[in-house]
Amino acid sequence: MTPKTKTLLAGALVGSLLAALPARAAEDVDVSKLPPAAAKTGLTYDKDIKALFENSCVKCHSGDRPKSKYSMESLPAIIKGGSSDEAAIIAGKSDKSPLVWYIADLVEEMEMPPLDKRDKYPVLTKEQIGLVRAWIDQGAK
Ligand code: HEC
Repeated sequence: MTPKTKTLLAGALVGSLLAALPARAAEDVDVSKLPPAAAKTGLTYDKDIKALFENSCVKCHSGDRPKSKYSMESLPAIIKGGSSDEAAIIAGKSDKSPLVWYIADLVEEMEMPPLDKRDKYPVLTKEQIGLVRAWIDQGAK
């Protein structure tokens, strides 16, 4: 094997190792499984979304030590995300927003609310997820 071939092989190996990492990247999420965005227009956080999150999310994502360092106590914090260091919401793009993947159970181990806590924190219905999607698609205002 020439040194050049070795380098090429090593590169390919690193590439395949990286590909095997448990990524939460957009390309791994089957967004075709997302409930469709609601048709409703003029959606705002205060009017249409806040109550849903307060019911199902905020208990864990608030206070001094919010889960995953993700506070859902204000809209800017909700958009910003937590310890993953990636935005939870990408305004205008609900299918690219991790929060949407999680509430629709598209990412294993990241189902929100967590699967074993749904007796206390109700899972969002398809219609509610559709509302969250439409709100994000309209700019998450
Ligand atoms: C019973 C507590 C609990 C509830 C209720 C809950 N979560 Fe979580 N959430 C967690 C935990 C624990 C993690 C960390 C999971 C992990 O990384 O393995 C997390 C992580 C997250 C993250 C990743 C943040 C980051 O950047 O690291 C998002 C986004 C999120 N939750 C959204 C929600 C939403 C939206 C709801 C409501 C629909 C919700 N969660 C309800 C416990 C909860």
